[in-house]
Amino acid sequence: MPDNVQPTPQREYFDFENEVAFVSGAAGGIGRATALAFAQEGAAVVVADIDEAGNRETAERIDALGSDALAVTCDLREPAEVQAAIERTIDEFGRLDYACNNAGVEQRSVKTADLDVEEWDRLLDTDLRGVFLSMKYQIPPIREHGGAIVNISSGAGIRGFPESGYVAAKHGVVGLTKSAALEYADTDLRINAVCPGIIDTSMMDRVTDDREGGRQSVVEQEPIGRMGEPAEIANAVLWLCSDAASFVLGHAMVVDGGQTV
Ligand SMILES: NC(=O)c1ccc[n+]([C@@H]2O[C@H](COP(=O)([O-])OP(=O)(O)OC[C@H]3O[C@@H](n4cnc5c(N)ncnc54)[C@H](O)[C@@H]3O)[C@@H](O)[C@H]2O)c1
Repeated sequence: MPDNVQPTPQREYFDFENEVAFVSGAAGGIGRATALAFAQEGAAVVVADIDEAGNRETAERIDALGSDALAVTCDLREPAEVQAAIERTIDEFGRLDYACNNAGVEQRSVKTADLDVEEWDRLLDTDLRGVFLSMKYQIPPIREHGGAIVNISSGAGIRGFPESGYVAAKHGVVGLTKSAALEYADTDLRINAVCPGIIDTSMMDRVTDDREGGRQSVVEQEPIGRMGEPAEIANAVLWLCSDAASFVLGHAMVVDGGQTV
């Protein structure tokens, strides 16, 4: 029998000192919580968002935690802007270890036949193409020494909801994640996804503002009886990036209070 059962102190897995994380959609919500979580564990963090002011505020909060921050304003739908953001990361910090591709937009509840083509394109361009473009430019520098990528999908990435553009994009993120994870499975790059449930962010405020029943109507979808906090998604992202998840790849990790169970 192999003697391969050794206890490892769990804290050792979560040391991100001298490492660099890139978090998109970091001006608020899940992205900001993830950026701060990386910073808390010692990583330098590049925050990327189309919202310049919110992104700068996240960078200031990272500074306040004592970690290095770089705020990059960019539209994740534009290849040249994504490429430039990753190049600035390397220019500033010399390396990239982790990426959380989180930027996204929600869909108003409209049936498929009534969904404008422009709205379909906006959803797919941001929520799926943006993740593809991000990985396209992140993978080469991460592969130089190994690391991890976590893409933010949704419960809408594993089951249907009456928001077909968003659901198609988020299913696409899971497919993209699994395929890319297999392509790089024999390297030191692990790629996974997180599928959040209903999380208390500005996005959820916008979703519930125009919905009958408001916040309570979405809380009722949650067996746990409440919305999730952005930090509860950040915790899953950090775990997937950590060495504690060294045997985990191509996984769509549901973190949703039981919403899709
Ligand atoms: N809040 C939820 O309940 C929930 C549930 C499941 C999945 N998600 C996903 O989690 C991610 C984060 O959502 P959130 O709730 O924190 O939303 P949020 O609206 O608070 O944050 C999204 C961020 O993405 C940025 N962004 C949007 N389009 C961009 C673009 N083209 N380029 C760069 N940045 C852009 C926004 O400026 C914003 O800062 C999204 O991908 C969302 O689909 C959220």
